Amino acid sequence: MKTFPQTFLWGGATAANQVEGAYLEDGKGLSTSDVQPQGIFGEVVERVTGDSGIKDIAIDFYHRYPQDIALFAEMGFNCLRVSIAWTRIFPNGDDAQPNEAGLAFYDKLFDEMARHNITPLVTLSHYEMPWALVKNYGGWGNRKVIDFFERYARTVFERYKGKVKLWLTFNEINMSLHAPLTGVVLPAGSSKGEIYQAIHHQLVASALAVKACHEIVPEGKIGNMLLGGLMYPLSCKPEDVFKTLQENRSWQFFGDVQCRGAYPGYMLRYFCDNGIALDITDADREALRTTVDFVSFSYYMTGCVTADDALNNQARGNILNMVPNPHLASSEWGWQIDPLGLRTLLNVLWDRYQKPLFIVENGLGAKDKVEADGSINDDYRISYLNDHLVQAREAIEDGVELMGFTSWGPIDLVSASKAELSKRYGFIYVDRHDDGTGTLARSKKKSFDWYKEVIATNGASLKA
Ligand code: BG6
Repeated sequence: MKTFPQTFLWGGATAANQVEGAYLEDGKGLSTSDVQPQGIFGEVVERVTGDSGIKDIAIDFYHRYPQDIALFAEMGFNCLRVSIAWTRIFPNGDDAQPNEAGLAFYDKLFDEMARHNITPLVTLSHYEMPWALVKNYGGWGNRKVIDFFERYARTVFERYKGKVKLWLTFNEINMSLHAPLTGVVLPAGSSKGEIYQAIHHQLVASALAVKACHEIVPEGKIGNMLLGGLMYPLSCKPEDVFKTLQENRSWQFFGDVQCRGAYPGYMLRYFCDNGIALDITDADREALRTTVDFVSFSYYMTGCVTADDALNNQARGNILNMVPNPHLASSEWGWQIDPLGLRTLLNVLWDRYQKPLFIVENGLGAKDKVEADGSINDDYRISYLNDHLVQAREAIEDGVELMGFTSWGPIDLVSASKAELSKRYGFIYVDRHDDGTGTLARSKKKSFDWYKEVIATNGASLKA
């Protein structure tokens, strides 16, 4: 019977702006997420108080976390990934003092997890930053933001060093290339040079946070977080294969800097070929030398790359704008389902970095039907997660060091791309809908007991 390592971390993953709600409560400032009510690809809508849309109360985790954590504990979670909303701690980003009420909230949250023996895995910045830093400083385009981020990171490391030992810097740091407003927060129409300069500032900030974590939480571990956007060549034509190498490097480069401590040669050539001259100081180079302890990533799908322009123009538009794979089925949202791709990706990342890996997001967004008796038979979700976990286990047998698996959205939450509640990932159903109606009541789906058994048997119940 194949099982996972005894120390394996099992759980789920969330992000503050997708679950907490309470978007202006207890002194919280407006974040970039609060001014994007339609999600990360939507327009900025800024009113005096922002217009958080469905995220105004999201699933009300801010007030209901004890009940939710009890349900996670019932499933046997020994790990929960959450993020800290930077704006609860520094509402404007440049405030002289941190907001005590915001700090106190996360104290209570981590204490509640501890009561249930759930290890927190905490993301410092999950697709949000103080909106005031964007308005007053220009977001990550401005070097000063590095200092504000470092101060925020040091503040939370000091405050929670006794409670949180596992940290992540920026969620899907490579998404900045596809949704700049979400990552580096630059105005639409910014040049490639401006985007890469802002990315550089974020990479330096990430490295400074790693250094601060090592100083303040010496027994802790801190990782990066990549969108694992594995691409295949659409054909074996050498042109397709080479273009695929370049496409994969376009996201791997973030990991290369964070794991190896310097820009790889292929990126220096890319900058040169494209007339991009980055402002990289000696202090930046020194900072980048501090590398992460482990590599975490999200995995939902793979895509194909072709050098043929005609085929490229037919590409279906999804997050990464890749060409569909004719051999794979898709989710209702057009995300192509590829469990074996997870094994490939784990091996690719292990071969490349030789650092422990952590799957911190994976799951199926789907519309769920509540039956007359209240039950939700989400066999499609069970099958998706089963097949991905089987491949993760295979990768461990291949020699990959895998720390854990936190499925995305263990409880239904607001989707990032379009701020929908109808795109559900949870083992726990939340009665709230896209139009804001619903009681917010929680109920268990069929997958709840399935995941509970997977954890209880440490993976032995999975069906290969
Ligand atoms: C990842 C993000 O990109 O994918 C999450 O880190 C996000 O924040 C998840 O929710 C799934 O995407 P979506 O758009 O279905 O919510």
